[in-house]
Amino acid sequence: MAAITERKFLGFPEGFLWGAATSHFQIEGHPEELSHRLSDWSQWTATAGKIADASTADLACQFFERFGQDMEICRDLHLNAFRISLNWPILCPVAPEPGQPLVLDPKGVIYYRELLASLKADGVTTFVTLFHFTLPHWLSAKGGWNNPESASDFANFAEQAVTAFGDLVDFWLTLNEPLAYVYQGYVSGLWPPGYKHDYLGAFTSIRYMLEGHALAYKAIHNLRPGAKVSFAMHWRPFVPKTRWNPFDCMVTYFRNYVFNRMFPQAVQLGKLSFPYPISKNGAVKALSGPILGLKGTQDYIAVNYYTRELSCFKFKWPIDLFGVASDKPEFEVNCLGWENFPDGFYQTLVNGLKPFKYNLDGSVRPIYVTENGFPTAFNADMEEGDWSLADDLRVHYLETHLHALHRAIKDGANVKGYLYWSLLDNFEWAEGLKARFGLVRITYPTQERTLRKSAHVYADIAKKNGILSGSMVENEI
Ligand code: BGC
Repeated sequence: MAAITERKFLGFPEGFLWGAATSHFQIEGHPEELSHRLSDWSQWTATAGKIADASTADLACQFFERFGQDMEICRDLHLNAFRISLNWPILCPVAPEPGQPLVLDPKGVIYYRELLASLKADGVTTFVTLFHFTLPHWLSAKGGWNNPESASDFANFAEQAVTAFGDLVDFWLTLNEPLAYVYQGYVSGLWPPGYKHDYLGAFTSIRYMLEGHALAYKAIHNLRPGAKVSFAMHWRPFVPKTRWNPFDCMVTYFRNYVFNRMFPQAVQLGKLSFPYPISKNGAVKALSGPILGLKGTQDYIAVNYYTRELSCFKFKWPIDLFGVASDKPEFEVNCLGWENFPDGFYQTLVNGLKPFKYNLDGSVRPIYVTENGFPTAFNADMEEGDWSLADDLRVHYLETHLHALHRAIKDGANVKGYLYWSLLDNFEWAEGLKARFGLVRITYPTQERTLRKSAHVYADIAKKNGILSGSMVENEI
Protein backbone atom coordinates (compact mmCIF):
# COMPACT_ATOMS: atom_id res chain seq x y z
CA MET A 1 0.00 0.00 0.00
CA ALA A 2 1.34 3.43 -0.89
CA ALA A 3 1.94 5.81 2.00
CA ILE A 4 -0.87 8.27 2.58
CA THR A 5 0.65 11.70 2.36
CA GLU A 6 -1.10 14.91 3.22
CA ARG A 7 -2.83 16.34 0.16
CA LYS A 8 -2.80 20.08 -0.39
CA PHE A 9 -5.55 21.97 -2.23
CA LEU A 10 -4.24 23.53 -5.45
CA GLY A 11 -6.66 26.25 -6.52
CA PHE A 12 -7.01 27.52 -10.10
CA PRO A 13 -7.51 31.18 -11.08
CA GLU A 14 -10.98 32.60 -10.62
CA GLY A 15 -13.22 32.10 -13.64
CA PHE A 16 -11.15 29.18 -14.92
CA LEU A 17 -12.99 27.13 -17.54
CA TRP A 18 -13.47 23.43 -16.89
CA GLY A 19 -14.96 21.64 -19.84
CA ALA A 20 -14.96 18.78 -22.27
CA ALA A 21 -14.19 18.61 -25.98
CA THR A 22 -15.93 16.63 -28.72
CA SER A 23 -16.11 16.55 -32.51
CA HIS A 24 -19.18 15.99 -34.65
CA PHE A 25 -18.20 12.88 -36.62
CA GLN A 26 -16.94 11.07 -33.54
CA ILE A 27 -20.18 11.41 -31.59
CA GLU A 28 -23.13 12.50 -33.71
CA GLY A 29 -24.19 9.51 -35.80
CA HIS A 30 -25.98 11.99 -38.02
CA PRO A 31 -28.74 10.13 -39.89
CA GLU A 32 -28.42 12.27 -43.04
CA GLU A 33 -24.73 11.61 -43.16
CA LEU A 34 -25.22 7.84 -42.81
CA SER A 35 -27.85 7.50 -45.43
CA HIS A 36 -26.06 9.63 -48.03
CA ARG A 37 -22.40 9.19 -47.04
CA LEU A 38 -21.96 12.92 -47.25
CA SER A 39 -18.35 13.14 -46.06
CA ASP A 40 -15.02 11.64 -47.01
CA TRP A 41 -14.96 9.99 -43.58
CA SER A 42 -18.36 8.31 -43.82
CA GLN A 43 -17.27 6.97 -47.20
CA TRP A 44 -13.92 5.86 -45.75
CA THR A 45 -15.54 3.93 -42.88
CA ALA A 46 -17.77 2.16 -45.40
CA THR A 47 -14.66 0.75 -47.11
CA ALA A 48 -13.49 -2.60 -45.74
CA GLY A 49 -10.14 -2.70 -43.95
CA LYS A 50 -9.85 0.97 -43.05
CA ILE A 51 -10.85 0.82 -39.38
CA ALA A 52 -8.88 -1.30 -36.90
CA ASP A 53 -11.88 -2.90 -35.20
CA ALA A 54 -14.06 -2.81 -38.35
CA SER A 55 -16.52 -0.47 -36.63
CA THR A 56 -18.10 2.62 -38.19
CA ALA A 57 -19.29 5.95 -36.86
CA ASP A 58 -22.75 5.34 -38.29
CA LEU A 59 -24.35 5.49 -34.87
CA ALA A 60 -21.39 6.68 -32.80
CA CYS A 61 -22.99 7.99 -29.58
CA GLN A 62 -26.21 9.09 -31.29
CA PHE A 63 -25.43 12.53 -29.94
CA PHE A 64 -27.62 14.04 -32.66
CA GLU A 65 -30.68 12.51 -30.98
CA ARG A 66 -29.44 12.40 -27.41
CA PHE A 67 -27.63 15.68 -26.89
CA GLY A 68 -30.27 16.86 -24.39
CA GLN A 69 -29.34 14.00 -22.09
CA ASP A 70 -25.63 14.66 -22.61
CA MET A 71 -26.04 18.33 -21.77
CA GLU A 72 -27.65 17.23 -18.51
CA ILE A 73 -24.55 15.17 -17.81
CA CYS A 74 -22.43 18.28 -18.40
CA ARG A 75 -24.55 20.12 -15.85
CA ASP A 76 -24.15 17.28 -13.34
CA LEU A 77 -20.40 17.40 -13.84
CA HIS A 78 -20.30 21.18 -13.18
CA LEU A 79 -18.71 21.86 -16.55
CA ASN A 80 -18.71 25.51 -17.60
CA ALA A 81 -17.22 25.04 -21.09
CA PHE A 82 -17.94 22.72 -23.99
CA ARG A 83 -16.32 22.23 -27.38
CA ILE A 84 -18.18 20.96 -30.42
CA SER A 85 -17.43 20.97 -34.12
CA LEU A 86 -19.81 21.76 -36.95
CA ASN A 87 -20.63 19.08 -39.45
CA TRP A 88 -19.55 20.87 -42.63
CA PRO A 89 -20.78 18.01 -44.87
CA ILE A 90 -24.26 18.21 -43.35
CA LEU A 91 -24.43 21.98 -43.40
CA CYS A 92 -23.15 22.12 -47.01
CA PRO A 93 -24.24 18.83 -48.54
CA VAL A 94 -23.90 19.97 -52.17
CA ALA A 95 -21.25 21.99 -53.94
CA PRO A 96 -22.17 25.68 -54.05
CA GLU A 97 -23.10 26.94 -57.52
CA PRO A 98 -20.34 29.14 -58.95
CA GLY A 99 -21.20 32.78 -58.35
CA GLN A 100 -24.13 31.90 -56.09
CA PRO A 101 -24.06 32.58 -52.35
CA LEU A 102 -23.65 29.55 -50.14
CA VAL A 103 -26.79 28.61 -48.20
CA LEU A 104 -26.50 26.33 -45.17
CA ASP A 105 -28.90 23.44 -44.84
CA PRO A 106 -31.79 24.82 -42.69
CA LYS A 107 -32.29 21.57 -40.73
CA GLY A 108 -28.61 21.52 -39.84
CA VAL A 109 -28.81 25.13 -38.70
CA ILE A 110 -31.79 24.37 -36.43
CA TYR A 111 -29.94 21.45 -34.84
CA TYR A 112 -26.78 23.39 -34.03
CA ARG A 113 -28.69 26.45 -32.85
CA GLU A 114 -30.67 24.27 -30.47
CA LEU A 115 -27.52 22.59 -29.17
CA LEU A 116 -25.59 25.84 -28.73
CA ALA A 117 -28.58 27.63 -27.21
CA SER A 118 -28.98 24.87 -24.63
CA LEU A 119 -25.32 25.29 -23.66
CA LYS A 120 -25.67 29.06 -23.41
CA ALA A 121 -28.84 28.70 -21.36
CA ASP A 122 -26.78 26.74 -18.84
CA GLY A 123 -24.14 29.47 -18.77
CA VAL A 124 -21.63 27.25 -20.58
CA THR A 125 -18.83 28.88 -22.62
CA THR A 126 -18.90 27.49 -26.15
CA PHE A 127 -15.94 26.54 -28.35
CA VAL A 128 -16.85 25.74 -31.96
CA THR A 129 -14.52 24.16 -34.50
CA LEU A 130 -15.22 24.62 -38.19
CA PHE A 131 -13.05 21.82 -39.58
CA HIS A 132 -12.50 18.75 -37.44
CA PHE A 133 -11.12 16.32 -40.04
CA THR A 134 -14.19 15.65 -42.23
CA LEU A 135 -14.70 17.18 -45.66
CA PRO A 136 -17.92 17.40 -47.64
CA HIS A 137 -17.67 14.68 -50.29
CA TRP A 138 -17.98 17.22 -53.15
CA LEU A 139 -14.84 18.93 -51.85
CA SER A 140 -12.88 15.72 -51.24
CA ALA A 141 -13.87 14.62 -54.76
CA LYS A 142 -12.06 17.63 -56.20
CA GLY A 143 -8.91 17.03 -54.15
CA GLY A 144 -9.88 18.35 -50.72
CA TRP A 145 -7.24 20.61 -49.18
CA ASN A 146 -4.96 19.94 -52.14
CA ASN A 147 -7.26 22.02 -54.30
CA PRO A 148 -6.52 25.78 -54.18
CA GLU A 149 -10.28 26.42 -54.11
CA SER A 150 -10.51 24.69 -50.72
CA ALA A 151 -9.36 27.90 -49.00
CA SER A 152 -12.24 30.00 -50.35
CA ASP A 153 -14.74 27.12 -50.00
CA PHE A 154 -13.77 26.97 -46.35
CA ALA A 155 -13.98 30.73 -45.87
CA ASN A 156 -17.47 30.78 -47.44
CA PHE A 157 -18.52 28.11 -44.98
CA ALA A 158 -17.00 30.09 -42.10
CA GLU A 159 -18.87 33.21 -43.17
CA GLN A 160 -22.20 31.39 -43.26
CA ALA A 161 -21.47 29.65 -39.96
CA VAL A 162 -20.77 32.91 -38.16
CA THR A 163 -23.94 34.40 -39.67
CA ALA A 164 -25.98 31.44 -38.44
CA PHE A 165 -24.38 30.81 -35.05
CA GLY A 166 -22.24 33.83 -34.18
CA ASP A 167 -24.49 34.99 -31.33
CA LEU A 168 -24.05 31.63 -29.58
CA VAL A 169 -20.31 31.07 -29.96
CA ASP A 170 -17.67 32.34 -27.54
CA PHE A 171 -14.54 30.87 -29.13
CA TRP A 172 -14.06 29.90 -32.77
CA LEU A 173 -11.50 27.36 -33.92
CA THR A 174 -11.04 27.35 -37.66
CA LEU A 175 -9.03 24.13 -38.06
CA ASN A 176 -8.36 21.26 -35.71
CA GLU A 177 -4.77 19.96 -35.67
CA PRO A 178 -3.78 20.65 -39.28
CA LEU A 179 -0.52 18.73 -38.91
CA ALA A 180 -2.11 15.63 -37.39
CA TYR A 181 -4.63 15.76 -40.24
CA VAL A 182 -2.10 15.95 -43.07
CA TYR A 183 0.19 13.42 -41.38
CA GLN A 184 -2.56 10.80 -41.24
CA GLY A 185 -4.03 11.67 -44.64
CA TYR A 186 -0.81 12.02 -46.66
CA VAL A 187 2.00 10.28 -44.77
CA SER A 188 0.66 7.34 -42.74
CA GLY A 189 -2.28 6.89 -45.11
CA LEU A 190 -4.53 5.81 -42.25
CA TRP A 191 -7.12 8.54 -42.89
CA PRO A 192 -8.67 9.83 -46.08
CA PRO A 193 -7.46 10.63 -48.68
CA GLY A 194 -5.15 7.74 -47.72
CA TYR A 195 -1.84 8.69 -49.38
CA LYS A 196 1.44 7.30 -48.06
CA HIS A 197 4.68 9.30 -47.79
CA ASP A 198 3.22 12.04 -49.94
CA TYR A 199 5.02 14.93 -48.26
CA LEU A 200 4.29 17.27 -51.13
CA GLY A 201 0.57 16.52 -50.78
CA ALA A 202 0.82 17.19 -47.04
CA PHE A 203 2.67 20.50 -47.54
CA THR A 204 0.26 21.59 -50.27
CA SER A 205 -2.65 21.02 -47.91
CA ILE A 206 -0.88 23.02 -45.23
CA ARG A 207 -0.50 25.95 -47.61
CA TYR A 208 -4.21 25.98 -48.48
CA MET A 209 -5.24 25.38 -44.87
CA LEU A 210 -3.25 28.46 -43.87
CA GLU A 211 -4.90 30.45 -46.65
CA GLY A 212 -8.30 29.09 -45.58
CA HIS A 213 -7.60 29.97 -41.95
CA ALA A 214 -6.62 33.54 -42.86
CA LEU A 215 -9.73 34.04 -44.99
CA ALA A 216 -12.00 32.47 -42.37
CA TYR A 217 -10.47 34.61 -39.62
CA LYS A 218 -11.22 37.71 -41.67
CA ALA A 219 -14.77 36.58 -42.53
CA ILE A 220 -15.56 35.93 -38.85
CA HIS A 221 -14.09 39.24 -37.71
CA ASN A 222 -15.88 41.17 -40.47
CA LEU A 223 -19.20 39.97 -39.14
CA ARG A 224 -18.28 39.91 -35.46
CA PRO A 225 -15.38 42.24 -34.75
CA GLY A 226 -15.09 41.11 -31.12
CA ALA A 227 -14.97 37.38 -31.96
CA LYS A 228 -12.18 35.24 -30.53
CA VAL A 229 -10.69 33.11 -33.28
CA SER A 230 -7.85 30.61 -33.34
CA PHE A 231 -6.98 27.09 -34.56
CA ALA A 232 -6.24 24.04 -32.41
CA MET A 233 -2.65 22.90 -32.55
CA HIS A 234 -1.59 19.46 -31.46
CA TRP A 235 1.65 19.97 -29.55
CA ARG A 236 3.89 16.99 -28.95
CA PRO A 237 7.37 17.36 -27.46
CA PHE A 238 9.84 15.36 -29.57
CA VAL A 239 12.90 13.84 -27.90
CA PRO A 240 15.75 11.94 -29.60
CA LYS A 241 15.48 8.27 -28.64
CA THR A 242 19.24 8.06 -28.15
CA ARG A 243 20.12 11.45 -26.75
CA TRP A 244 23.75 11.44 -27.96
CA ASN A 245 23.00 10.13 -31.43
CA PRO A 246 23.32 13.01 -33.95
CA PHE A 247 21.02 11.26 -36.43
CA ASP A 248 18.26 10.90 -33.84
CA CYS A 249 18.80 14.56 -32.94
CA MET A 250 18.49 15.51 -36.60
CA VAL A 251 15.13 13.76 -37.16
CA THR A 252 13.90 15.19 -33.85
CA TYR A 253 14.66 18.67 -35.18
CA PHE A 254 12.70 18.08 -38.40
CA ARG A 255 9.75 16.42 -36.69
CA ASN A 256 9.50 19.20 -34.12
CA TYR A 257 9.86 21.96 -36.72
CA VAL A 258 7.24 20.59 -39.06
CA PHE A 259 4.74 19.04 -36.65
CA ASN A 260 4.77 21.62 -33.84
CA ARG A 261 6.16 24.90 -35.05
CA MET A 262 5.63 25.35 -38.76
CA PHE A 263 1.92 26.17 -38.70
CA PRO A 264 1.77 28.53 -35.68
CA GLN A 265 4.98 30.19 -36.83
CA ALA A 266 3.45 30.86 -40.25
CA VAL A 267 0.45 32.44 -38.52
CA GLN A 268 2.70 34.48 -36.24
CA LEU A 269 4.87 35.81 -39.06
CA GLY A 270 2.40 35.77 -41.96
CA LYS A 271 4.50 33.50 -44.14
CA LEU A 272 5.09 29.80 -44.56
CA SER A 273 8.69 28.57 -44.28
CA PHE A 274 9.98 25.03 -44.63
CA PRO A 275 13.18 23.85 -42.96
CA TYR A 276 16.41 23.65 -44.94
CA PRO A 277 17.16 21.59 -47.08
CA ILE A 278 13.48 20.73 -47.72
CA SER A 279 12.97 24.40 -48.58
CA LYS A 280 15.33 24.00 -51.56
CA ASN A 281 13.05 21.55 -53.37
CA GLY A 282 11.42 23.44 -56.25
CA ALA A 283 7.85 22.27 -55.63
CA VAL A 284 8.12 22.94 -51.90
CA LYS A 285 9.67 26.35 -52.53
CA ALA A 286 6.65 27.28 -54.63
CA LEU A 287 4.42 26.66 -51.59
CA SER A 288 6.44 28.81 -49.23
CA GLY A 289 6.30 32.56 -48.75
CA PRO A 290 3.89 35.23 -47.53
CA ILE A 291 0.15 34.58 -47.22
CA LEU A 292 -2.17 37.53 -47.49
CA GLY A 293 -3.95 38.43 -44.25
CA LEU A 294 -2.38 35.60 -42.26
CA LYS A 295 -0.09 37.48 -39.88
CA GLY A 296 -1.26 37.45 -36.27
CA THR A 297 -4.59 35.69 -36.95
CA GLN A 298 -4.67 33.96 -33.58
CA ASP A 299 -6.63 35.74 -30.84
CA TYR A 300 -5.85 33.03 -28.30
CA ILE A 301 -3.77 29.86 -28.21
CA ALA A 302 -5.67 26.59 -28.42
CA VAL A 303 -3.48 23.60 -27.65
CA ASN A 304 -4.16 19.87 -27.60
CA TYR A 305 -1.68 17.79 -25.62
CA TYR A 306 -1.62 14.02 -25.14
CA THR A 307 1.95 12.71 -25.03
CA ARG A 308 5.55 13.16 -26.12
CA GLU A 309 7.33 11.22 -28.82
CA LEU A 310 10.75 9.57 -28.95
CA SER A 311 12.14 10.00 -32.44
CA CYS A 312 14.73 7.90 -34.19
CA PHE A 313 16.56 7.89 -37.47
CA LYS A 314 16.03 4.92 -39.72
CA PHE A 315 18.81 3.84 -42.07
CA LYS A 316 17.34 3.60 -45.55
CA TRP A 317 17.71 5.07 -49.00
CA PRO A 318 16.69 7.72 -49.93
CA ILE A 319 17.35 9.27 -46.54
CA ASP A 320 14.18 10.17 -44.64
CA LEU A 321 14.81 13.36 -42.66
CA PHE A 322 11.76 12.71 -40.52
CA GLY A 323 12.74 9.25 -39.29
CA VAL A 324 10.20 7.30 -37.25
CA ALA A 325 8.64 7.28 -33.79
CA SER A 326 10.38 4.82 -31.51
CA ASP A 327 8.37 1.82 -30.37
CA LYS A 328 10.47 1.47 -27.19
CA PRO A 329 8.84 3.74 -24.61
CA GLU A 330 10.57 4.94 -21.45
CA PHE A 331 7.42 5.52 -19.41
CA GLU A 332 4.15 3.68 -19.01
CA VAL A 333 2.02 3.68 -22.15
CA ASN A 334 -1.72 3.64 -22.72
CA CYS A 335 -3.62 1.23 -24.98
CA LEU A 336 -2.57 3.21 -28.05
CA GLY A 337 1.09 3.02 -27.06
CA TRP A 338 1.34 6.68 -25.98
CA GLU A 339 3.59 7.45 -23.04
CA ASN A 340 2.12 9.14 -19.97
CA PHE A 341 4.29 12.21 -19.74
CA PRO A 342 2.73 15.08 -17.74
CA ASP A 343 6.02 16.94 -17.63
CA GLY A 344 5.71 17.36 -21.41
CA PHE A 345 2.42 19.16 -20.78
CA TYR A 346 4.19 21.54 -18.39
CA GLN A 347 7.07 22.07 -20.85
CA THR A 348 4.64 22.74 -23.69
CA LEU A 349 2.71 25.36 -21.75
CA VAL A 350 5.70 27.08 -20.20
CA ASN A 351 8.34 26.82 -22.95
CA GLY A 352 6.98 25.30 -26.18
CA LEU A 353 4.30 27.92 -26.77
CA LYS A 354 6.48 30.90 -25.82
CA PRO A 355 7.16 32.07 -29.40
CA PHE A 356 3.40 32.56 -29.88
CA LYS A 357 2.79 34.32 -26.59
CA TYR A 358 2.09 37.82 -27.89
CA ASN A 359 -0.57 39.33 -30.10
CA LEU A 360 0.55 41.88 -32.67
CA ASP A 361 -0.45 44.67 -30.25
CA GLY A 362 1.86 43.24 -27.57
CA SER A 363 -0.89 41.82 -25.35
CA VAL A 364 -0.41 38.32 -23.97
CA ARG A 365 -2.59 35.68 -25.62
CA PRO A 366 -4.69 33.57 -23.30
CA ILE A 367 -4.09 29.83 -23.63
CA TYR A 368 -6.90 27.26 -23.62
CA VAL A 369 -6.17 23.56 -23.47
CA THR A 370 -8.71 22.39 -26.01
CA GLU A 371 -7.92 18.65 -25.64
CA ASN A 372 -6.14 16.36 -23.20
CA GLY A 373 -7.25 12.84 -22.44
CA PHE A 374 -6.58 9.16 -21.90
CA PRO A 375 -7.89 6.07 -23.77
CA THR A 376 -8.70 2.57 -22.55
CA ALA A 377 -9.56 -0.33 -24.88
CA PHE A 378 -12.86 -2.20 -24.71
CA ASN A 379 -14.72 -3.82 -27.58
CA ALA A 380 -17.71 -1.93 -28.92
CA ASP A 381 -20.06 -4.91 -28.49
CA MET A 382 -19.54 -5.19 -24.71
CA GLU A 383 -22.81 -4.78 -22.96
CA GLU A 384 -22.70 -5.86 -19.36
CA GLY A 385 -20.61 -5.59 -16.26
CA ASP A 386 -18.78 -2.75 -14.62
CA TRP A 387 -15.79 -3.08 -16.99
CA SER A 388 -14.00 0.16 -17.52
CA LEU A 389 -15.97 2.11 -14.93
CA ALA A 390 -13.25 2.02 -12.29
CA ASP A 391 -10.86 3.83 -14.59
CA ASP A 392 -8.01 4.47 -12.20
CA LEU A 393 -5.52 4.89 -15.01
CA ARG A 394 -7.57 7.73 -16.49
CA VAL A 395 -7.94 9.31 -13.05
CA HIS A 396 -4.19 9.12 -12.63
CA TYR A 397 -3.59 10.70 -16.06
CA LEU A 398 -6.07 13.46 -15.30
CA GLU A 399 -4.65 14.25 -11.89
CA THR A 400 -1.02 14.24 -12.94
CA HIS A 401 -1.76 16.43 -15.97
CA LEU A 402 -3.76 18.88 -13.88
CA HIS A 403 -0.92 19.05 -11.38
CA ALA A 404 1.40 19.88 -14.28
CA LEU A 405 -1.09 22.49 -15.49
CA HIS A 406 -1.30 24.07 -12.05
CA ARG A 407 2.49 24.23 -11.90
CA ALA A 408 2.62 25.78 -15.38
CA ILE A 409 0.16 28.51 -14.38
CA LYS A 410 2.17 29.20 -11.23
CA ASP A 411 5.25 29.54 -13.42
CA GLY A 412 3.61 32.11 -15.66
CA ALA A 413 1.67 30.25 -18.39
CA ASN A 414 -1.45 32.30 -19.16
CA VAL A 415 -3.85 29.33 -19.19
CA LYS A 416 -7.52 30.21 -18.78
CA GLY A 417 -9.27 26.91 -19.35
CA TYR A 418 -8.98 23.15 -19.75
CA LEU A 419 -11.19 20.89 -21.85
CA TYR A 420 -10.88 17.15 -21.26
CA TRP A 421 -11.05 14.89 -24.33
CA SER A 422 -13.68 13.60 -24.23
CA LEU A 423 -17.02 13.73 -22.48
CA LEU A 424 -18.16 10.44 -24.03
CA ASP A 425 -16.51 7.33 -25.44
CA ASN A 426 -16.57 7.91 -29.17
CA PHE A 427 -15.35 6.95 -32.62
CA GLU A 428 -11.56 7.22 -32.51
CA TRP A 429 -10.93 7.53 -36.28
CA ALA A 430 -8.81 4.67 -37.68
CA GLU A 431 -8.86 2.97 -34.26
CA GLY A 432 -12.65 2.69 -34.33
CA LEU A 433 -14.93 2.47 -31.30
CA LYS A 434 -12.64 0.33 -29.21
CA ALA A 435 -10.27 3.08 -28.00
CA ARG A 436 -12.38 4.93 -25.46
CA PHE A 437 -11.52 8.35 -24.09
CA GLY A 438 -14.78 9.08 -22.25
CA LEU A 439 -15.40 10.32 -18.76
CA VAL A 440 -18.72 8.74 -19.56
CA ARG A 441 -18.93 5.17 -20.82
CA ILE A 442 -21.09 4.44 -23.83
CA THR A 443 -22.50 0.93 -23.89
CA TYR A 444 -22.81 0.90 -27.68
CA PRO A 445 -25.42 -1.87 -28.07
CA THR A 446 -27.87 0.11 -25.90
CA GLN A 447 -26.37 3.61 -26.06
CA GLU A 448 -26.61 3.77 -22.30
CA ARG A 449 -24.49 6.46 -20.63
CA THR A 450 -22.71 5.62 -17.34
CA LEU A 451 -20.39 7.91 -15.42
CA ARG A 452 -16.92 6.52 -14.79
CA LYS A 453 -14.89 7.20 -11.67
CA SER A 454 -12.94 9.82 -13.66
CA ALA A 455 -16.19 11.72 -14.30
CA HIS A 456 -16.84 11.98 -10.56
CA VAL A 457 -13.26 13.05 -9.88
CA TYR A 458 -13.40 15.66 -12.66
CA ALA A 459 -16.77 16.97 -11.46
CA ASP A 460 -15.31 17.53 -8.02
CA ILE A 461 -12.33 19.40 -9.48
CA ALA A 462 -14.60 21.59 -11.61
CA LYS A 463 -16.91 22.30 -8.70
CA LYS A 464 -14.10 23.29 -6.34
CA ASN A 465 -12.01 24.96 -9.07
CA GLY A 466 -9.00 23.07 -7.81
CA ILE A 467 -7.41 19.72 -7.20
CA LEU A 468 -5.64 18.04 -4.33
CA SER A 469 -1.92 17.44 -4.68
CA GLY A 470 -0.71 13.83 -4.75
CA SER A 471 -2.74 11.04 -6.27
CA MET A 472 -6.08 9.78 -5.10
CA VAL A 473 -5.46 6.53 -6.93
CA GLU A 474 -2.09 5.88 -5.25
CA ASN A 475 -3.57 6.64 -1.86
CA GLU A 476 -6.37 4.17 -2.43
CA ILE A 477 -4.36 1.30 -3.83
C1 BGC B 1 -8.19 14.78 -32.17
C2 BGC B 1 -9.40 13.99 -31.74
C3 BGC B 1 -8.97 12.60 -31.31
C4 BGC B 1 -8.03 12.74 -30.14
C5 BGC B 1 -7.53 11.43 -29.57
C6 BGC B 1 -6.98 14.58 -31.32
O1 BGC B 1 -5.87 14.44 -32.13
O2 BGC B 1 -8.53 16.12 -32.31
O3 BGC B 1 -10.31 13.96 -32.79
O4 BGC B 1 -10.03 11.77 -31.02
O5 BGC B 1 -6.91 13.48 -30.53
O6 BGC B 1 -6.74 10.76 -30.49
